[in-house]
Amino acid sequence: MPAPPGLRLPAPLQVAWLVADPMRFFAAGRRLGPVFQIRLPGMPPEVCVATADLAEQVLAADGSGGRAGAVRRGLLGPLVGEASLLTLDEEPWWRHRRLLGPPLHGRAVARWAERAAELAAADIDRWPLGEPFALRPRMERITLEVIMRVVFGIRDAGRLRRQRDRLLRLVALGGGAAVVRLPPRPREWLLTAPAARRAGFLPTTRFARIRAQVDAILYDEMARRRRDGAPDAGPAADDVLSQLLAARDEAGRPLTDREVRDELITLLVAGHETTATALAWTFERLVRTPPVLERLREEPADGDGRAYLDAVIKESLRVRPVVPATPRLLTEPMTVGGHRVPAGWCVAAVIPLVHTDPDVFPDPGEFRPERFLGPEAAKANRAWLPFGGGRRYCAGAQLALLEMRTIVAEVLRRVELRPADPAPERVRLRAVSLVPARSARVVAARRGSAAV
Ligand code: HEM
Repeated sequence: MPAPPGLRLPAPLQVAWLVADPMRFFAAGRRLGPVFQIRLPGMPPEVCVATADLAEQVLAADGSGGRAGAVRRGLLGPLVGEASLLTLDEEPWWRHRRLLGPPLHGRAVARWAERAAELAAADIDRWPLGEPFALRPRMERITLEVIMRVVFGIRDAGRLRRQRDRLLRLVALGGGAAVVRLPPRPREWLLTAPAARRAGFLPTTRFARIRAQVDAILYDEMARRRRDGAPDAGPAADDVLSQLLAARDEAGRPLTDREVRDELITLLVAGHETTATALAWTFERLVRTPPVLERLREEPADGDGRAYLDAVIKESLRVRPVVPATPRLLTEPMTVGGHRVPAGWCVAAVIPLVHTDPDVFPDPGEFRPERFLGPEAAKANRAWLPFGGGRRYCAGAQLALLEMRTIVAEVLRRVELRPADPAPERVRLRAVSLVPARSARVVAARRGSAAV
């Protein structure tokens, strides 16, 4: 059985191309066939697939030899830890997934809609009017506030602000190239050796210090919760932290403090920038597709209107997915699309390629939410993978969709937006997300004013 064809470029050039222009890089792979190989420095060879059927085969590996945690550990381990849904595999991962399932379930997160709308409204009212500004950082502020309330249940403004600033620094340093791109051994030394810990100018040292501060606060918060209950939660402590502290596995065991710490950071890391970027892309597309924006404004806020809003969100996540791929490290060989992939290699569905397969999505570059409403909807839904799939399907998808629905509706209610520049924004790879190159620059006017 032949090995899949690969790009004829050394690994450092492949990664440089991927970072500079991810869409062209993946398109070049697809020209070799629906199954192709890429090489990234310090990683095993990766076999990529470009169609929904092949993606299904790749994601089915979650039930056998596919390890998502092992691939992510190198990149995300220092930030989220070893006891995180993102970095665990096999039985320990299942145990965590079962314990985190209930607080993130659709019904459990639905109760946060009103709070999310209030937080969005307060932020939108502070947006500049009549001058260009970038939407993505604004969206990040809103989604961080939402996740901090959902995860920690903190309402006290001062405590929230202090915690938020530290967490933002932690995520910025821990997700930055100076920490992420280092090989694991030197990185571990830089993060733990006493000599390195004294060199305050090193990004790894700054990261280790802020991580220690955040951890101390989190452990302190856990001790306080165990003693006094949730601070602001009222009769039902429904934030994720309270629920995780109360959760017990089948053997009646709770999560350790270390495990709870890792999962709290995980939810922040996995949950806030992704959702903010998805929202930024939704508006980047909407302001450049006036008929869709008009129809969305005209639809009633419930009934069919909600169906169109959902279709807009789906279409945005299709045409501009935030996460590029779903890599799995194989512990046993697998066959995909007539190619044998050995154990020790990675396989991945490339989400932007699956989402632009012209057999499923005619005129794939067009922003057309109707594809998720008409008779083609079933086929489109089957090939829709913005949250990945298999057993490792995004644990926060319901919360992300709830936030997107609520925040898009709140923006439309309060302001009119137009693009700061009519040209579409290019797709850039930033850390592990596909982001709009200029952070979705728009100009806002208050609704009903003639300034736009
Ligand atoms: C629009 C926003 C979001 C997008 C596009 C997104 C996308 C993804 C993707 C593609 C994966 C990998 C799935 C795979 O490998 O098959 C993932 C995993 C994950 N996501 Fe999300 N996500 C979003 C929001 C969130 C939120 C709000 C949370 C939590 C509050 C969250 C928590 C997680 C976790 C914990 C995992 C790891 C699941 C596991 O391995 O078991 N995500 N997400």
